[in-house]
Amino acid sequence: MSKKELKQFVCQNCGSVYPKWQGKCDSCGEWNTIVEEVAGGGGFSNINYNKRKGKEIEFVSLSGIQEKLDRLSTQINELDRVCGGGLVSGSVILVGGDPGIGKSTLLLQACSKVADLPQRPEVYYISGEEAVDQVRIRAKRLGLEKSPVNLASCTEIKDIITTLEKSKASVVVIDSIQTMYLDEVESTPGSVSQVRACCYELIKLAKRKGFTLFLVGHVTKQGEIAGPRVLEHMVDTVLYFEGERGHHFRILRAVKNRYGATDEIGVFEMQDKGLVEVANPSALFLAERQGNISGSCVFAGVEGSRPVLVEIQALVSPTGYSSPKRAVVGWDSNRLAMVLAVLEARCGINLSSQDVYLNIAGGLRISEPAADLAVALAVISSLRNKPLPADMVIFGEIGLSGEVRAVSQPSLRLKEAKKLGFSNAIIPQGRANDKKFLADITLHEIGNIQRVINLLD
Ligand code: TYD
Ligand code: MG
Repeated sequence: MSKKELKQFVCQNCGSVYPKWQGKCDSCGEWNTIVEEVAGGGGFSNINYNKRKGKEIEFVSLSGIQEKLDRLSTQINELDRVCGGGLVSGSVILVGGDPGIGKSTLLLQACSKVADLPQRPEVYYISGEEAVDQVRIRAKRLGLEKSPVNLASCTEIKDIITTLEKSKASVVVIDSIQTMYLDEVESTPGSVSQVRACCYELIKLAKRKGFTLFLVGHVTKQGEIAGPRVLEHMVDTVLYFEGERGHHFRILRAVKNRYGATDEIGVFEMQDKGLVEVANPSALFLAERQGNISGSCVFAGVEGSRPVLVEIQALVSPTGYSSPKRAVVGWDSNRLAMVLAVLEARCGINLSSQDVYLNIAGGLRISEPAADLAVALAVISSLRNKPLPADMVIFGEIGLSGEVRAVSQPSLRLKEAKKLGFSNAIIPQGRANDKKFLADITLHEIGNIQRVINLLD
């Protein structure tokens, strides 16, 4: 095959392949993302099946002896939990996040804790972004310079693989996959084929040698791990490290995990000595709450296996625009539109001449529909300029006919509320079975959103 025939055009955003260059990618709709690359990088294509005869594979039954997964604790509880209870050997974890959010800091801290374990696992931290001295400065700042972590600054995948092949590595960090480079692939580091090929080689090695591989990945403006979404399919676990720039806390969220639940979050606080675990996030999210303010209420949510109480703030003000503004931070704007429509249609609350702003205090992102009721109450409270009782928590999903629906794990939510000193709760009807825990909380069970409005009057 001539070299010319091996060229292909690959979208750097979604990885779609085209035979000819075009301005717009048909599959993701992005403009100017298609770049010429050489096909075959990473050993995916051009497989000649005649060269080697295939072996017959052996099929087995679904049941069998379940090997217990060998998990290594990072000694950082929040990280262990998000990974499903520790690091599984041979697994590959992609850590994505905005620049400066703290990915390198978190992984350096984890490396140092693992390296300090009494069994002295071999830990390798390979940085392609920073020079050795820069990483050392960070380690010193974090007070970790004495840990026996093997540090190197390198971007050549071949050199990395040759080195790790001889090692007895337990944990390897590659910071970041976008800086890594494989000779055979004729495109620049960070391009889809480079990233995919490097990732493929490293994953093969991790599986063969049985070490846990952390890959740091950059995030694009759209909030996806840069360009190649393909990466997410190749790895076992995808973690996103998020947080608002102005806030000091950071949330590590599992979005894919072959070895654990995906709705877990880990909460950290960025301090001047690095990331510190937050064992009780509710207390942190509610720390700056001011009582007796209209438009604010406390939602008792559940993130993964853990209850999290957060403040939901709404501001409703007469609009100066021809169509009123709706702005949301930390929640789904479509859900806000739905809640507002239900309030208008079922409760006769007119919001068409009002701007509505909604904010989840503290920079947390909530995805649970269970927050509907709390959002509705925050909006009504702001509209009427009537504060809700400061010791009240709220949860419940709202249906289109205005009914308040049950949500999962009500007793877990209520127990957390009780622990934090709340004494009133508005909850969906028929959900207070575990009353024995709840002697100190007055429950207002409601079946319809109209009822709750009467409750406020
Ligand atoms: P970093 O881990 O370099 O981010 P990433 O690898 O995701 O790009 O984090 C850098 C930021 O964290 C930087 O803005 C400074 C801040 N930081 C602290 O506040 N305290 C610390 O102890 C460290 C090491 C960093
Ligand atoms: Mg970094």
